[in-house]
Amino acid sequence: MGRVEGKVAIVTGGGTGIGRATAQRLAAEGAKVTITDVNTEAGQAVAEELGGDAVFLQQDVREEADWQRLMEAVAAQHGRPDILVNNAGILATTPYQFLDQTDLEQWRAIQAVNVEGVFLGCKYGVAAMSAGGRPKGGAGGGSIVNLSSIAGLIGTPGAVAYGASKGAVRQISKTVAIDCARKGLGIRCNSVHPGTIRTDMGDQVMRMGGGDPEKALAASIRRIPMDEPAQAVDVANCILFLASDEARHVTGAELVVDGGITAV
Ligand SMILES: NC(=O)c1ccc[n+]([C@@H]2O[C@H](COP(=O)([O-])OP(=O)(O)OC[C@H]3O[C@@H](n4cnc5c(N)ncnc54)[C@H](O)[C@@H]3O)[C@@H](O)[C@H]2O)c1
Repeated sequence: MGRVEGKVAIVTGGGTGIGRATAQRLAAEGAKVTITDVNTEAGQAVAEELGGDAVFLQQDVREEADWQRLMEAVAAQHGRPDILVNNAGILATTPYQFLDQTDLEQWRAIQAVNVEGVFLGCKYGVAAMSAGGRPKGGAGGGSIVNLSSIAGLIGTPGAVAYGASKGAVRQISKTVAIDCARKGLGIRCNSVHPGTIRTDMGDQVMRMGGGDPEKALAASIRRIPMDEPAQAVDVANCILFLASDEARHVTGAELVVDGGITAV
């Protein structure tokens, strides 16, 4: 019996990185996983690799119509969703993000994916997950996990728009958590805050200053008390816990996965 056996799960941005690792862990623990991404090739490849009940659906998280289409498709294929991982996110659209180098176009592009995408996900996710009613607390409830970052907890020079977007994700998560709890919907909502993670986005962070990415990585590792970056699966394991009934009393929480960076 898997830790999320038979649960219906959606992972946005599941074609690469943390999303891919999350889809793998949820499927390995018995969930029926729908992977979404704007990158059709990558998302399709993950669904094929997982096999079984895993499917891929092309989705742009910025588009309301895509959320409606996704929830209808999941309901038709697998039934009511139990788990939604709002993982899709972008770091930047241009190399620099210091305040004086960030224009309004870049600011809005980042908020559109990272904030509006999570807002729409929570809105359509709660509606789809609460259909027909759920137990008010404990096991058998729904779970939404939103990907924030340590940049949503502490100031990050050079990531003004990204940091603001991830702070908003933290706040959306807590508000949705309380709203669902007070309405007795049986849906929990939590945020996850990775630090330095080796993914496509993690490597993009190392290239952002315009210097040597290997030196940037070494400097980044020196900031980590545990002295090594996390792998995507380390974040995926935390998401799996929050998605499962093991976390049945956990809502509105922020799970930091940063090797101790923000504890200093
Ligand atoms: N990697 C890190 O160091 C790190 C640290 C903290 C937080 N995070 C957060 O974790 C999440 C996953 O990051 P990652 O490192 O795996 O990134 P990644 O770039 O490797 O993967 C992100 C995925 O999201 C998809 N995507 C982008 N825009 C989309 C859209 N509009 N609609 C649907 N899909 C879209 C991409 O195609 C990609 O497959 C992000 O929200 C990110 O902000 C990452």
